[in-house]
Amino acid sequence: MAQLWGGRFTKETDQLVYEFNASIGFDQRLFAEDIMGSKAHVKMLAKQGILTEEERDAILAGLEGIQADVLSGALPITSEYEDIHSFVEANLIDRIGDAGKKLHTGRSRNDQVALDMRLYTRSQVEHTQTLLHHLLETILHIMEEHTQTIMPGFTHLQKAQPITLAHHMGAYFEMFRRDVSRLEDIYKRMNYCPLGSGALAGTTYPLDREYTAQLLDFYGPTQNSMDGVSDRDYLIEYLSALATIMMHLSRFSEEVIIWNSNEYRFIEIDDAYSTGSSIMPQKKNPDIAELVRGKTGRVYGALMSLLTTMKGIPLAYNKDMQEDKELSFDAMDTANGCIQLFDGMLATMTFRRDVMEKSAKHGFTNATDAADYLVNHGVPFRDAHGIVGQIVLYCIDKGIAIDDMSLEELQEISPVFEQDIYEAISMDTCVNKRLTIGAPGKEAMDRVIASYREYLKK
Ligand code: ARG
Repeated sequence: MAQLWGGRFTKETDQLVYEFNASIGFDQRLFAEDIMGSKAHVKMLAKQGILTEEERDAILAGLEGIQADVLSGALPITSEYEDIHSFVEANLIDRIGDAGKKLHTGRSRNDQVALDMRLYTRSQVEHTQTLLHHLLETILHIMEEHTQTIMPGFTHLQKAQPITLAHHMGAYFEMFRRDVSRLEDIYKRMNYCPLGSGALAGTTYPLDREYTAQLLDFYGPTQNSMDGVSDRDYLIEYLSALATIMMHLSRFSEEVIIWNSNEYRFIEIDDAYSTGSSIMPQKKNPDIAELVRGKTGRVYGALMSLLTTMKGIPLAYNKDMQEDKELSFDAMDTANGCIQLFDGMLATMTFRRDVMEKSAKHGFTNATDAADYLVNHGVPFRDAHGIVGQIVLYCIDKGIAIDDMSLEELQEISPVFEQDIYEAISMDTCVNKRLTIGAPGKEAMDRVIASYREYLKK
């Protein structure tokens, strides 16, 4: 039990207290960030004349040696140390002696952990952006292939009007594109360096905070040292963005599950992305989609947990804040893993065009267009609505689609119908005459797809 703060204590920490207090079990994930931050700190201390160049070089070499040995496995990170910061510092002193004791000059673990967590979160934000970018590529590819694949669009999970698969996929493109832009916003707000905030009140050493911020690729230093050590807003924002991404993935998963059901059969999930049943040989289950849907709750949980942890913490640092890590790490792993798996499942999925089109045809999805036809021939919309309602009843009774009725049958219900009704209510017309911005018609869709291509090029 090597503790950094043993000086004013006369008694050993109780074992259970030690374990309760320790964070090495999970904050070892911040190892690379801790070394990175320490290197920047030491370079700045030497530049400011607080350390000599020899001391700086010895510390840098020591830190690099520790990093290499941890990576090679020669130096295991063990629970003998309270946290990752103690581990690095104790090992540095073991290696280079007294110079190592100077690393922590003008620094507190409070600004150190604030920095490490921010660096780690920043790289995770970038990772999520990369994964989303790839998912958007996959979605756009499907859109380009399926501008003519007709399917039913639903409201209340009831067939409503015909759309195309490209149009349906485009809705998800919009959602994930907003998610990317949310991450861009978060990055802009969070990219300021808390190092140099000290324990809470800065330090009397002439630290150059602009310089460390620059070394670590931040826009600049944070402007209030109390806030610098105790701000976790950026993490809450990131968890909130991840929760929103999971909500989008979960909705999409729900549709995959429905489309994959025996009743729909709109899609076939690739064997590599589905699983079987231990007892029912015929089964091919959409487990990946179900797990993504299920794991959404976990990510929401991390967001709620951190919001609740932070709500009662007085300024500045309090140990409660150590609780920012475990669930956040879990949420990052979960959400990023889900994006990747969902992407793979989507990219390898087969869409059954024939089943989708047939489903659109046999769900009266062209009923609105039949009513519009009557309106275009002078019938008031409310009357037209009633006439088509009668037609639908007639078709349900006969088990046919509107298009299957003869002109005589149609005219019996309304004499306004002429031969051109068939063209007016064909699936092709219903979809491709819808040309307002954002609608499924091919010309409108092609324009949107071109703009998405441009967006992804950037
Ligand atoms: N393990 C701690 C955390 O995660 C590091 C900071 C400790 N600072 C302190 N004053 N005890 O927050």
